Amino acid sequence: PEDIRVYEFAEKLKRPMSDIIKVLFDLGMMMTKNDFLGADEIEILSEEFGVEVTIIDPKDEFNYVEEAESQEEEGEERPPIITIMGHVDHGKTSLLDAIRKAKVTEDEAGGITQHIGAYTINQHGREITFIDTPGHAAFSSMRQRGTDITDIIIIVVAADDGVKPQTEEVIKIAKDSGAPIIVALNKMDKETANPDLVKGQMAERGISPVDWGGDIEFVPLSAKTGMGLDDLLENILLTADILELKASPDANAKAAVVESSLEKGRGPVATVIVQNGTLKVGDNVVCGKAHGRVKALINENSKQIKSVPPSHTAVVVGLNEVPAAGEIMMAMKNDKEAKEYAQKRYEYDRHKELSKSTKSTLEDMTSMI
Ligand code: GTP
Ligand code: MG
Repeated sequence: PEDIRVYEFAEKLKRPMSDIIKVLFDLGMMMTKNDFLGADEIEILSEEFGVEVTIIDPKDEFNYVEEAESQEEEGEERPPIITIMGHVDHGKTSLLDAIRKAKVTEDEAGGITQHIGAYTINQHGREITFIDTPGHAAFSSMRQRGTDITDIIIIVVAADDGVKPQTEEVIKIAKDSGAPIIVALNKMDKETANPDLVKGQMAERGISPVDWGGDIEFVPLSAKTGMGLDDLLENILLTADILELKASPDANAKAAVVESSLEKGRGPVATVIVQNGTLKVGDNVVCGKAHGRVKALINENSKQIKSVPPSHTAVVVGLNEVPAAGEIMMAMKNDKEAKEYAQKRYEYDRHKELSKSTKSTLEDMTSMI
């Protein structure tokens, strides 16, 4: 684990603590026996002492994560989860709204539809879940936490505007994530639309259109008129077929937080996408440092629901504090277990903060010498 102290590391290696401290000192890191070692230090030390160290993510310490993941591979087909990214004003929100309007059947009783960070549509009997553009920062932080839940990335490029700085950033993020990419050539209704120009610009950056002999689908469309939306959805489903996405509805729920806030009257709320299992009202959950019992689940039509199957979304009410976006929510056996894991996580975070601050003061000291 990452939160190992210098003396614990020495014990594990069966080496005198002074050896460890000396190596660190020689590298300019002043540490004492009770300091926590970071991933970098552990890597340096294991090289120095010729041992192999596996760094386990704190979340993996909870073996139920592994258990849940192994079940994912065997389970049943689940809907793909899609993120739409692109340059400012290229039409991400319009596209999400257009798809939603055309494809989400709103409950008659529901009335006003509230904004929720994600929604699921039905395309000829098959479902697709869209995450409302979380913004680059949120997307990147989710990836760093290893809670990247996106199966397919849609890069929106306005056909009348072409590749812009943020398009370039998005291309990089998409490539790094390894998720399949589909390009939506938006604003095709505009007279100034020039899809070939965009294709050329994208090809130059390694995103080669299928009709040019490459491997990326470019779908011309218009969020304004609705033209091409069906093509996009069909393309998503074809891509999903290749991915063979699976989950086990019977497993303990594991979900990712895509949005969270403190709401008047409701307290802390979190919009989640279920990755595996089925999240139910009454479940005892842990979510980073937060925990609680699921009091209510509310879907995108503001309707209270009893349970949320894999790849579906809901707003969860009942947590004791607001979890960060990107945090993983897990259903636990009971209230006690949920509390314990939340406490464990709280301590882990505190240790990390503490070791960070001790380290920086020590660094300041060395630089003064
Ligand atoms: P940010 O969230 O600010 O990054 O922008 P966005 O990518 O969400 O773009 P948004 O959907 O807000 O659209 C920006 C502008 O482009 C709005 O004025 C839309 O009405 C317009 N727009 C979006 N899609 C189309 C389209 O297909 N055709 C035309 N003509 N206009 C569009
Ligand atoms: Mg927008």
